[in-house]
Amino acid sequence: MGLKIVMWNLLVVILSLWFCFSTASVSYDHKAIVLNGTRRILISGSIHYPRSTPEMWPDLIAKAKAGGLDVIQTYVFWNGHEREPGKFYFEGRYDLVKFIKIVQQAGLYVHLRIGPYACAEWNFGGFPVWLKFVPGISFRTDNGPFKDAMQNFTTKIVNMMKAERLYEAQGGPIIMSQIENEYGPMEYELGAPARTYTNWTARMAVGLDTGVPWIMCKQDDAPDPIINACNGFYCDYFSPNKDYKPKMWTENWTGWFTSFGGTVPYRPAEDVAFSVARFILKGGSFINYYMYHGGTNFGRTAGSLIATSYDYDAPLDEFGLLRQPKWGHLTHLHRVIKLCEPALVSGDPVRTPLGNNQEASVFNSTSGACAAFLVNYDKNSSAKAVFNSMHYDLPPWSISILPDCKNVVFNTAMVSAQSAQMNMTPVGRPLVWQSYNDEATSYEDKTFTAVGLLEQINTTRDVSDYLWYMTDVNIDSNEGFLSSGEFPVLKVASSGHALHVFINNQLSGTVYGSLENTKINFSNGVNLRAGVNKISLLSTVVGLPNIGPHFGAWNAGVLGPVTLDGLNEGIRDLTLQNWSYKVGLNGEALSLHSQGGNSTTEWAGGSLVAQDQPLTWYKTTFDAPDGDQPIALDMNTMGKGQIWINGRSIGRHWPAHKASGTCGGCSYAGWYDEKKCLSNCGEASQKWYHIPRSWLKPRGNLLVIFEELGGIPFGISLMQRKLASVCADINEWQPTLMNLQMQHSGKVNQPFRPKAHLRCMPGQNIASIKFASFGTPGGTCGSFVQGSCHAQKSGDVFERNCIGKNACSVIVAPGMFGGDPCPKITKKLSVEVICS
Ligand code: GAL
Repeated sequence: MGLKIVMWNLLVVILSLWFCFSTASVSYDHKAIVLNGTRRILISGSIHYPRSTPEMWPDLIAKAKAGGLDVIQTYVFWNGHEREPGKFYFEGRYDLVKFIKIVQQAGLYVHLRIGPYACAEWNFGGFPVWLKFVPGISFRTDNGPFKDAMQNFTTKIVNMMKAERLYEAQGGPIIMSQIENEYGPMEYELGAPARTYTNWTARMAVGLDTGVPWIMCKQDDAPDPIINACNGFYCDYFSPNKDYKPKMWTENWTGWFTSFGGTVPYRPAEDVAFSVARFILKGGSFINYYMYHGGTNFGRTAGSLIATSYDYDAPLDEFGLLRQPKWGHLTHLHRVIKLCEPALVSGDPVRTPLGNNQEASVFNSTSGACAAFLVNYDKNSSAKAVFNSMHYDLPPWSISILPDCKNVVFNTAMVSAQSAQMNMTPVGRPLVWQSYNDEATSYEDKTFTAVGLLEQINTTRDVSDYLWYMTDVNIDSNEGFLSSGEFPVLKVASSGHALHVFINNQLSGTVYGSLENTKINFSNGVNLRAGVNKISLLSTVVGLPNIGPHFGAWNAGVLGPVTLDGLNEGIRDLTLQNWSYKVGLNGEALSLHSQGGNSTTEWAGGSLVAQDQPLTWYKTTFDAPDGDQPIALDMNTMGKGQIWINGRSIGRHWPAHKASGTCGGCSYAGWYDEKKCLSNCGEASQKWYHIPRSWLKPRGNLLVIFEELGGIPFGISLMQRKLASVCADINEWQPTLMNLQMQHSGKVNQPFRPKAHLRCMPGQNIASIKFASFGTPGGTCGSFVQGSCHAQKSGDVFERNCIGKNACSVIVAPGMFGGDPCPKITKKLSVEVICS
């Protein structure tokens, strides 16, 4: 009898555990991801944990939450975790578990893109370099050694997540995972073995039994039960490969990355919002912003020629500050989407045309919820539309959202969020420098010799960006050029990112590659003398490729031929003679970056500090600036190299590489692509380099720079990033959430007056009103101008309500500004206030 009771109790416990497990689960249907039995519209944002510091994570995630996100998406960066085969690292910026737990504590979910191929403009797409040297390996295809390594790492991560109880089914925040990344185009290229690999990948991932769905992005044949998802600037046209899978968008690119030598792309907030609303109105239910915070490619983590900044024009800027109005505009959008959620998840939309280029998309639920989206696809003209017997004005390339099918509370092209002007201002005392010359001459020792030219990655295994190729050339005293003065021409064919040519230790020229073309050719007259001449070629790889069908097999370095043309004998081929090699720089071997060298390292100071000298190391110390504003280095007077703070690399600098491209005006309206809206033309692609606050101690921080090309260290300054001013630019009839209240007051379709909200950063106050005009002002934040209609008292209300306060709001109605300055004309308010 007793035993029966015990058995019965045990059964109850087991059943209730099973019940808990099975209810706390994630599944999906044709409409949406289903969380604990409820379909959800999920808003997600990418934050890659190693692109910021653990000290920054809580604030970034809090801002993501305040911005209306439900999910944080990240790749897992294999080469950061398994630096040597079987030796794992999960600390500091690579503390994945800590990152996920911070997301969990904030009450958000996680989408874990294990990959383990990431792409992501990350060195080698996330693959460890040792993987390339596994015998018989071929990446991302039906290849035993690759599949073994991929399975081992994926299993390692999944087991780690399980052990920490981080999957949703275990009560954790991870609600979905990704295997591979954009493999569809590869499969197309590689054919049959790739298809076998896809099926293996799917089986392998599903077999890991995570209890949450797996996603494959940009892979139209994703095998069941894996969901295929879309990546792009727009994904409304996309349909999943089976009608029982939801329509998901894993990468909505909020901007684009910057490469050294490239312009800095940006994407208007109005168009990002438009793309999201377009996706939702066509039945989409999961959107991820790639990136929500882009951050920084610290150290040597950037992919080929990718800049150190991975700002991406994301809603949170590289430094973790709000990018306004993008962050605010999307926050408003998310709030409105959430109001529509009950209708959105109920069923498929009914779409009806409202004009040639206009349509309505309506979602109805059985319980009576109704949400409507009114679209104007026309990029040039606004349109008037009649919907449910009511009249609506639709700005060009915009979507109005009506969470009750009556009142417009948001239009993607009308931004009521504040915009902000950020400033970088010098801070602290001028830096006092010492320099150390890392000449090519000091390479006689620790070199090895080979016949002919060696491939660079095979030789360096990516422990350094640098490989020296050195050879001797004998010039007979009878050579004709010695008397004619017409120097022979040295031709060097190289592959990679930069090549510096030294003749007898003098820099004779430099050539660069670009993201589009990594084949570089040096061809220049060189000053040789009678006797033995030293030719030293310094080949630089600025990150390994992260994309392309055969990125793992990319060859770099001086691949040849190397010839001398214009000698008595005509052309002399140097390709197959003896070459001496040295991996890395002298200063790297001396660890100059961490301690500034040993006691025998002779640093020059005062007037002897080198300027405009290639291959120079610089060092200085500085105290941490007061306060908690983000800090950066202005490197505009420098050329190319790498920067360390207290021994840790903040990344590569290359301000000498100027952005080439066409920067012009940029309208939010019309299809966006990464070439449409560009900045920095003719200037350095990147001049500011983020120093994480947490890497600084209060006093005596060691800053070391290696300068490859030559630069002026005295131009380097420590900068702090601050909010200088904030603006509001609001139409007097701009739709806001307040319009929903009209429902209750019975005044349907009589818009409410919007409010201008102005907010400085914590610790700052509004110091003065730089501009205020209610009427027909023009210009944009930072350069507003008065129009022909202007209320004389436009500024008074701000003087009264805002000065000395951290934040204030003012209703945008004529009465607030001393009366209507031009009745019958639609007016707007433009205001800029200074924060200090
Ligand atoms: C996608 C890729 C991402 C990233 C992005 C461009 O195709 O999946 O990892 O590389 O492009 O920023």
